Amino acid sequence: WPAFAEDIDAILALKRERDAVILAHNYQTPEIFHGVADIVGDSLALAREAARTDASVIVLCGVHFMAETAKLLNPGKTVLIPDLEAGCSLAESITGADVRLLRQRYPGVPVVSYVNTSAEVKAQTDICCTSGNARAVIESLGVPRVIMLPDEYLARNIAAQTSVEVIAWHGRCEVHERFTADDIGRLRAGHPGVVVLAHPECSPEVVAVADFVGSTQGMNDYVVHKRPARVVLITECSMSDNVAAQHPDLEFVRPCNLCPHMKRITLPGIRHALETMTHAIEIDPAIAAPARRAVERMLEVKP
Ligand code: 13P
Ligand code: SF4
Repeated sequence: WPAFAEDIDAILALKRERDAVILAHNYQTPEIFHGVADIVGDSLALAREAARTDASVIVLCGVHFMAETAKLLNPGKTVLIPDLEAGCSLAESITGADVRLLRQRYPGVPVVSYVNTSAEVKAQTDICCTSGNARAVIESLGVPRVIMLPDEYLARNIAAQTSVEVIAWHGRCEVHERFTADDIGRLRAGHPGVVVLAHPECSPEVVAVADFVGSTQGMNDYVVHKRPARVVLITECSMSDNVAAQHPDLEFVRPCNLCPHMKRITLPGIRHALETMTHAIEIDPAIAAPARRAVERMLEVKP
Protein backbone atom coordinates (compact mmCIF):
# COMPACT_ATOMS: atom_id res chain seq x y z
CA TRP A 1 0.00 0.00 0.00
CA PRO A 2 2.25 2.91 -1.16
CA ALA A 3 -0.34 5.52 -0.13
CA PHE A 4 -0.26 4.26 3.45
CA ALA A 5 3.42 3.31 3.75
CA GLU A 6 4.61 6.46 5.49
CA ASP A 7 1.91 6.35 8.19
CA ILE A 8 2.33 2.59 8.66
CA ASP A 9 6.12 2.92 9.11
CA ALA A 10 5.68 5.80 11.56
CA ILE A 11 3.06 3.87 13.57
CA LEU A 12 5.22 0.74 13.76
CA ALA A 13 8.15 2.83 15.05
CA LEU A 14 5.93 4.67 17.57
CA LYS A 15 4.55 1.39 18.84
CA ARG A 16 8.05 0.25 19.78
CA GLU A 17 8.95 3.62 21.27
CA ARG A 18 5.82 3.77 23.44
CA ASP A 19 5.64 0.06 24.28
CA ALA A 20 2.17 0.09 22.76
CA VAL A 21 -0.09 -2.65 21.45
CA ILE A 22 -2.76 -1.97 18.83
CA LEU A 23 -6.07 -3.79 19.23
CA ALA A 24 -8.33 -3.48 16.20
CA HIS A 25 -11.92 -4.55 15.73
CA ASN A 26 -12.89 -6.60 12.67
CA TYR A 27 -14.66 -3.50 11.24
CA GLN A 28 -11.46 -1.49 10.93
CA THR A 29 -10.24 -0.76 7.40
CA PRO A 30 -7.75 -3.21 5.84
CA GLU A 31 -4.79 -0.84 6.13
CA ILE A 32 -5.36 -0.74 9.91
CA PHE A 33 -6.42 -4.39 10.27
CA HIS A 34 -3.59 -5.85 8.18
CA GLY A 35 -1.12 -2.95 8.33
CA VAL A 36 -0.63 -1.97 11.99
CA ALA A 37 -2.82 -4.06 14.33
CA ASP A 38 -1.19 -6.54 16.74
CA ILE A 39 -4.46 -8.16 17.77
CA VAL A 40 -7.67 -8.25 15.72
CA GLY A 41 -11.00 -9.76 16.59
CA ASP A 42 -14.57 -9.34 17.75
CA SER A 43 -15.59 -7.48 20.91
CA LEU A 44 -15.06 -10.58 23.06
CA ALA A 45 -11.58 -11.29 21.69
CA LEU A 46 -10.57 -7.65 22.17
CA ALA A 47 -11.77 -7.70 25.79
CA ARG A 48 -9.91 -10.97 26.45
CA GLU A 49 -6.72 -9.66 24.85
CA ALA A 50 -6.99 -6.35 26.69
CA ALA A 51 -7.08 -8.34 29.94
CA ARG A 52 -3.97 -10.30 28.91
CA THR A 53 -1.57 -7.72 27.43
CA ASP A 54 1.59 -6.64 29.22
CA ALA A 55 2.24 -3.60 26.99
CA SER A 56 2.22 -0.23 28.78
CA VAL A 57 -0.10 1.44 26.27
CA ILE A 58 -3.16 0.07 24.47
CA VAL A 59 -4.40 1.83 21.34
CA LEU A 60 -7.95 0.73 20.72
CA CYS A 61 -8.93 0.95 17.07
CA GLY A 62 -12.66 0.63 17.36
CA VAL A 63 -15.39 2.59 19.10
CA HIS A 64 -15.52 4.28 22.48
CA PHE A 65 -17.15 1.50 24.49
CA MET A 66 -14.38 -0.88 23.36
CA ALA A 67 -11.71 1.50 24.65
CA GLU A 68 -13.64 1.87 27.92
CA THR A 69 -13.79 -1.91 28.28
CA ALA A 70 -10.02 -2.14 27.72
CA LYS A 71 -9.49 0.56 30.36
CA LEU A 72 -11.80 -1.18 32.84
CA LEU A 73 -9.62 -4.28 32.54
CA ASN A 74 -6.36 -2.27 32.71
CA PRO A 75 -6.93 0.56 35.16
CA GLY A 76 -3.18 1.15 35.55
CA LYS A 77 -2.40 1.34 31.83
CA THR A 78 -2.80 4.10 29.31
CA VAL A 79 -5.63 3.28 26.92
CA LEU A 80 -5.86 5.55 23.88
CA ILE A 81 -8.63 5.95 21.32
CA PRO A 82 -7.65 7.92 18.20
CA ASP A 83 -11.05 9.68 17.97
CA LEU A 84 -13.25 10.36 21.00
CA GLU A 85 -16.29 10.83 18.78
CA ALA A 86 -16.25 7.20 17.62
CA GLY A 87 -19.54 6.26 19.27
CA CYS A 88 -22.22 3.62 18.72
CA SER A 89 -25.99 3.92 18.24
CA LEU A 90 -26.52 1.04 20.68
CA ALA A 91 -24.38 2.55 23.43
CA GLU A 92 -26.19 5.87 22.95
CA SER A 93 -29.65 4.30 23.23
CA ILE A 94 -29.59 3.87 27.02
CA THR A 95 -28.35 5.61 30.19
CA GLY A 96 -27.62 4.46 33.72
CA ALA A 97 -30.86 6.15 34.84
CA ASP A 98 -32.81 4.02 32.32
CA VAL A 99 -31.30 0.86 33.84
CA ARG A 100 -32.29 1.98 37.35
CA LEU A 101 -35.88 2.45 36.15
CA LEU A 102 -35.87 -1.01 34.56
CA ARG A 103 -34.70 -2.51 37.85
CA GLN A 104 -37.58 -0.81 39.66
CA ARG A 105 -39.99 -2.17 37.09
CA TYR A 106 -38.64 -5.74 37.27
CA PRO A 107 -37.39 -6.17 40.85
CA GLY A 108 -34.91 -9.01 41.32
CA VAL A 109 -34.49 -9.73 37.60
CA PRO A 110 -30.76 -9.78 36.68
CA VAL A 111 -29.60 -7.26 34.09
CA VAL A 112 -27.25 -8.32 31.30
CA SER A 113 -25.53 -5.47 29.47
CA TYR A 114 -24.31 -5.93 25.93
CA VAL A 115 -20.69 -4.79 25.71
CA ASN A 116 -21.95 -2.03 23.39
CA THR A 117 -22.83 0.19 26.38
CA SER A 118 -21.08 2.95 28.29
CA ALA A 119 -19.21 2.14 31.51
CA GLU A 120 -21.91 4.13 33.31
CA VAL A 121 -24.53 1.65 32.05
CA LYS A 122 -22.39 -1.43 32.69
CA ALA A 123 -21.95 -0.22 36.27
CA GLN A 124 -25.72 -0.59 36.81
CA THR A 125 -25.82 -4.18 35.52
CA ASP A 126 -24.99 -7.64 36.86
CA ILE A 127 -22.98 -9.04 33.99
CA CYS A 128 -21.82 -8.03 30.54
CA CYS A 129 -22.05 -10.06 27.31
CA THR A 130 -21.01 -9.83 23.68
CA SER A 131 -22.63 -11.24 20.57
CA GLY A 132 -20.14 -14.12 20.84
CA ASN A 133 -21.23 -15.31 24.30
CA ALA A 134 -24.70 -13.80 24.93
CA ARG A 135 -26.50 -17.13 25.22
CA ALA A 136 -23.83 -18.69 27.46
CA VAL A 137 -23.87 -15.61 29.72
CA ILE A 138 -27.65 -15.61 30.06
CA GLU A 139 -27.80 -19.34 30.75
CA SER A 140 -24.92 -19.10 33.27
CA LEU A 141 -27.16 -17.08 35.58
CA GLY A 142 -29.50 -20.03 36.22
CA VAL A 143 -32.64 -17.87 36.38
CA PRO A 144 -35.90 -18.06 34.40
CA ARG A 145 -35.93 -14.38 33.34
CA VAL A 146 -33.30 -11.74 32.51
CA ILE A 147 -33.25 -8.17 31.25
CA MET A 148 -30.91 -7.86 28.27
CA LEU A 149 -30.03 -4.41 27.01
CA PRO A 150 -29.82 -2.34 24.91
CA ASP A 151 -30.07 -4.24 21.59
CA GLU A 152 -33.64 -5.26 20.91
CA TYR A 153 -32.74 -7.47 17.96
CA LEU A 154 -29.89 -9.27 19.70
CA ALA A 155 -32.17 -9.89 22.70
CA ARG A 156 -34.93 -11.29 20.48
CA ASN A 157 -32.47 -13.43 18.51
CA ILE A 158 -31.00 -14.90 21.69
CA ALA A 159 -34.48 -15.40 23.20
CA ALA A 160 -35.27 -17.62 20.22
CA GLN A 161 -32.36 -19.94 21.17
CA THR A 162 -32.96 -20.33 24.90
CA SER A 163 -35.72 -21.21 27.36
CA VAL A 164 -34.78 -18.18 29.49
CA GLU A 165 -37.29 -15.34 29.14
CA VAL A 166 -35.52 -12.24 27.82
CA ILE A 167 -36.86 -8.74 28.50
CA ALA A 168 -35.45 -6.39 25.85
CA TRP A 169 -34.74 -2.66 25.50
CA HIS A 170 -35.32 -0.80 22.23
CA GLY A 171 -31.78 0.03 21.05
CA ARG A 172 -30.73 -0.77 17.49
CA CYS A 173 -27.45 -0.91 15.63
CA GLU A 174 -27.81 1.69 12.88
CA VAL A 175 -25.71 -0.50 10.56
CA HIS A 176 -27.38 -3.88 10.98
CA GLU A 177 -30.98 -2.65 11.26
CA ARG A 178 -30.79 -1.49 7.64
CA PHE A 179 -30.62 -5.04 6.23
CA THR A 180 -33.99 -6.60 5.36
CA ALA A 181 -35.19 -10.12 4.58
CA ASP A 182 -36.03 -8.84 1.07
CA ASP A 183 -32.37 -7.85 0.63
CA ILE A 184 -31.40 -11.45 1.39
CA GLY A 185 -34.00 -12.78 -1.05
CA ARG A 186 -32.60 -10.55 -3.81
CA LEU A 187 -29.05 -11.65 -2.99
CA ARG A 188 -29.98 -15.30 -3.22
CA ALA A 189 -31.77 -14.73 -6.55
CA GLY A 190 -28.84 -12.76 -8.01
CA HIS A 191 -26.07 -15.02 -6.69
CA PRO A 192 -27.22 -18.65 -6.79
CA GLY A 193 -25.77 -20.84 -4.06
CA VAL A 194 -24.55 -17.91 -1.97
CA VAL A 195 -24.08 -18.77 1.73
CA VAL A 196 -25.54 -16.01 3.91
CA LEU A 197 -23.78 -15.22 7.21
CA ALA A 198 -25.52 -12.63 9.39
CA HIS A 199 -24.64 -10.78 12.58
CA PRO A 200 -27.15 -11.20 15.46
CA GLU A 201 -27.62 -7.39 15.62
CA CYS A 202 -29.69 -7.90 12.42
CA SER A 203 -33.47 -8.18 12.77
CA PRO A 204 -35.01 -11.59 13.60
CA GLU A 205 -36.53 -11.54 10.08
CA VAL A 206 -33.03 -11.35 8.54
CA VAL A 207 -31.66 -13.94 10.97
CA ALA A 208 -34.52 -16.30 10.01
CA VAL A 209 -33.39 -16.38 6.38
CA ALA A 210 -29.62 -16.56 7.01
CA ASP A 211 -27.61 -19.79 6.82
CA PHE A 212 -25.47 -18.93 9.85
CA VAL A 213 -25.67 -16.30 12.58
CA GLY A 214 -22.69 -15.27 14.67
CA SER A 215 -20.41 -12.55 15.95
CA THR A 216 -17.87 -11.07 13.56
CA GLN A 217 -15.36 -13.67 14.77
CA GLY A 218 -17.99 -16.40 14.34
CA MET A 219 -18.47 -15.35 10.70
CA ASN A 220 -14.73 -15.32 10.12
CA ASP A 221 -14.38 -18.79 11.64
CA TYR A 222 -17.23 -20.08 9.48
CA VAL A 223 -15.37 -18.93 6.34
CA VAL A 224 -12.08 -20.44 7.55
CA HIS A 225 -13.56 -23.81 8.44
CA LYS A 226 -16.37 -24.30 5.90
CA ARG A 227 -14.79 -22.45 2.99
CA PRO A 228 -18.05 -21.57 1.17
CA ALA A 229 -17.29 -20.98 -2.54
CA ARG A 230 -19.65 -17.98 -2.64
CA VAL A 231 -20.50 -16.13 0.54
CA VAL A 232 -22.01 -12.87 1.78
CA LEU A 233 -21.41 -11.33 5.21
CA ILE A 234 -24.46 -9.38 6.35
CA THR A 235 -22.60 -6.84 8.43
CA GLU A 236 -20.27 -3.83 8.25
CA CYS A 237 -18.30 -3.36 4.99
CA SER A 238 -14.73 -3.66 6.24
CA MET A 239 -15.45 -7.10 7.65
CA SER A 240 -15.76 -8.56 4.13
CA ASP A 241 -12.71 -6.61 2.95
CA ASN A 242 -10.60 -8.07 5.76
CA VAL A 243 -11.83 -11.64 5.47
CA ALA A 244 -11.74 -11.61 1.65
CA ALA A 245 -8.09 -10.50 1.68
CA GLN A 246 -7.25 -13.76 3.44
CA HIS A 247 -9.31 -15.94 1.07
CA PRO A 248 -8.64 -14.81 -2.51
CA ASP A 249 -10.00 -18.14 -3.83
CA LEU A 250 -13.51 -17.58 -2.40
CA GLU A 251 -16.13 -15.26 -3.93
CA PHE A 252 -17.41 -12.59 -1.54
CA VAL A 253 -20.67 -10.92 -2.59
CA ARG A 254 -20.40 -7.38 -1.22
CA PRO A 255 -23.56 -5.54 -0.25
CA CYS A 256 -22.76 -3.97 3.09
CA ASN A 257 -23.45 -0.98 5.31
CA LEU A 258 -20.72 1.28 6.67
CA CYS A 259 -20.43 2.13 10.35
CA PRO A 260 -19.62 5.85 10.41
CA HIS A 261 -18.28 5.52 13.96
CA MET A 262 -15.78 2.78 13.15
CA LYS A 263 -14.70 4.77 10.11
CA ARG A 264 -13.59 7.72 12.27
CA ILE A 265 -10.47 5.69 13.06
CA THR A 266 -7.77 6.27 10.43
CA LEU A 267 -4.03 5.69 10.06
CA PRO A 268 -3.22 9.43 10.49
CA GLY A 269 -5.44 9.41 13.58
CA ILE A 270 -3.61 6.41 15.07
CA ARG A 271 -0.27 8.04 14.32
CA HIS A 272 -1.39 11.26 16.00
CA ALA A 273 -2.70 9.32 19.02
CA LEU A 274 0.70 7.69 19.54
CA GLU A 275 2.64 10.90 18.91
CA THR A 276 0.60 12.95 21.38
CA MET A 277 -0.61 10.13 23.67
CA THR A 278 -4.23 11.18 23.17
CA HIS A 279 -7.07 10.55 23.77
CA ALA A 280 -6.52 8.74 27.05
CA ILE A 281 -9.63 7.06 28.45
CA GLU A 282 -10.45 7.96 32.06
CA ILE A 283 -13.35 6.45 33.99
CA ASP A 284 -14.72 7.73 37.29
CA PRO A 285 -13.55 5.15 39.88
CA ALA A 286 -17.04 4.97 41.41
CA ILE A 287 -18.35 3.80 38.02
CA ALA A 288 -15.29 1.76 37.07
CA ALA A 289 -15.45 -0.66 40.01
CA PRO A 290 -18.99 -2.03 39.40
CA ALA A 291 -18.56 -1.83 35.58
CA ARG A 292 -15.33 -3.86 35.84
CA ARG A 293 -17.14 -6.49 37.93
CA ALA A 294 -19.75 -6.91 35.16
CA VAL A 295 -17.03 -7.37 32.51
CA GLU A 296 -14.90 -9.69 34.65
CA ARG A 297 -17.92 -11.81 35.48
CA MET A 298 -18.51 -12.20 31.75
CA LEU A 299 -14.92 -13.28 31.14
CA GLU A 300 -15.36 -16.06 33.74
CA VAL A 301 -18.24 -17.62 31.76
CA LYS A 302 -17.12 -20.61 29.72
CA PRO A 303 -18.26 -20.32 26.10
P1 13P B 1 -18.79 -8.29 17.47
O1 13P B 1 -17.50 -8.05 16.75
O2 13P B 1 -18.56 -8.60 18.90
O3 13P B 1 -19.59 -9.33 16.77
O4 13P B 1 -19.60 -6.92 17.46
C1 13P B 1 -20.03 -6.30 16.35
C2 13P B 1 -20.24 -4.86 16.53
O5 13P B 1 -21.12 -4.29 16.01
C3 13P B 1 -19.29 -4.13 17.31
O6 13P B 1 -19.57 -2.81 17.24
FE1 SF4 C 1 -22.36 0.34 17.08
FE2 SF4 C 1 -23.43 -0.88 14.99
FE3 SF4 C 1 -21.30 0.66 14.63
FE4 SF4 C 1 -21.05 -1.69 15.92
S1 SF4 C 1 -21.63 -1.40 13.78
S2 SF4 C 1 -20.20 0.29 16.53
S3 SF4 C 1 -23.02 -1.82 16.97
S4 SF4 C 1 -23.34 1.35 15.32
